[in-house]
Amino acid sequence: MYTPAQNRYETMTYRRCGKSGIRLPLISLGLWHNFGGVDTLENARAMLRRAFDLGITHFDLANNYGPPPGSAEENFGRLMEQDFRPFRDELIISSKAGYLMWPGPYGEWGSRKYLIASLDQSLGRMGLDYVDIFYSHRPDPETPLEETMMALDFAVRSGRALYAGISSYPADLTRKAAEILKSLGTPCLIHQPSYSMFNRWIEPDLLTALRDTGMGSIVFSPLAQGLLSDKYLGGIAAGSRASKPHGYLRPEQITDDKLTKVRALNELALARGQSLAQMALTWVLRHPEVTSALIGASRVEQIEDAVGAIHQPRFSSDELSRIETILAG
Ligand SMILES: NC(=O)c1ccc[n+]([C@@H]2O[C@H](COP(=O)([O-])OP(=O)(O)OC[C@H]3O[C@@H](n4cnc5c(N)ncnc54)[C@H](OP(=O)(O)O)[C@@H]3O)[C@@H](O)[C@H]2O)c1
Repeated sequence: MYTPAQNRYETMTYRRCGKSGIRLPLISLGLWHNFGGVDTLENARAMLRRAFDLGITHFDLANNYGPPPGSAEENFGRLMEQDFRPFRDELIISSKAGYLMWPGPYGEWGSRKYLIASLDQSLGRMGLDYVDIFYSHRPDPETPLEETMMALDFAVRSGRALYAGISSYPADLTRKAAEILKSLGTPCLIHQPSYSMFNRWIEPDLLTALRDTGMGSIVFSPLAQGLLSDKYLGGIAAGSRASKPHGYLRPEQITDDKLTKVRALNELALARGQSLAQMALTWVLRHPEVTSALIGASRVEQIEDAVGAIHQPRFSSDELSRIETILAG
């Protein structure tokens, strides 16, 4: 039987999610990789337990996480039942729909038909009565935004979800989505965009849109899938994401140009007394609009390393400009 650490709320910091009543841990854990049918359930269990012991109260899923698609939710459901059922009210569990899940015209994108059917399937796989956050996983260029937002509103009103979220929506659509959801009476809690030192698309417009709409945000792949650590400096190690056939990080993305930057960033991190992964997390969390950094992990130690980032020193202006110089190449 799992007994969580008594002191689990003593070290984590929680940040308010936009203008909502919810506070999220600065570090959240996503189950995209390493929790699927191809992975080891006992390792998944160890990571979830350690995360919760360290005050990580938010686990992020989606219908398609695996592989195979759906298997991360199934595994999470097993672990929920065996370990976490008594702690359901201490957890924020999210899921999403938007990418391909089943054949035919109703198995992906943003129709009400797909979103609600998918959410019901996710709840079944996880053995939950409700998720805390349900996301539209990606904007659909063909479905009217009103329909997608009405589906999120319905998910909340019908008790399947407590809050609505959007993922990877550009700034203009974010503003429109927020307006529609507000008019329906279900404010948009949160945006989930990608963001890291190597992927800064949210900086020009989206951060302002988040501030203006009062939405919080949780940024995914803050370590650029592991590139922003020291793990690829000696080549592609066996067992790393880039080494796996189903890993989303492909070896050709690990270019010499990236590695030169990683090496320089690693030196700066060490001079600050932290690991590069920790520095990359401190860096995304420097924006008040970023509520939480959504990491992935393949081992318990990576979660411990990430949580170690939350009490690290803020950046001096000199350090920030050195990072800019390194990233500019
Ligand atoms: N909304 C969306 O469209 C979307 C898209 C993608 C992801 N997400 C969410 O974001 C979550 C995180 O994404 P991500 O896994 O790409 O995030 P990430 O934190 O950038 O990358 C995680 C990977 O980095 C490596 N790593 C982590 N900590 C490390 C450390 N201390 N030292 C060295 N390597 C370390 C591990 O790779 P190894 O396996 O190589 O050890 C780990 O699996 C997902 O689980 C999912 O919930 C959402």
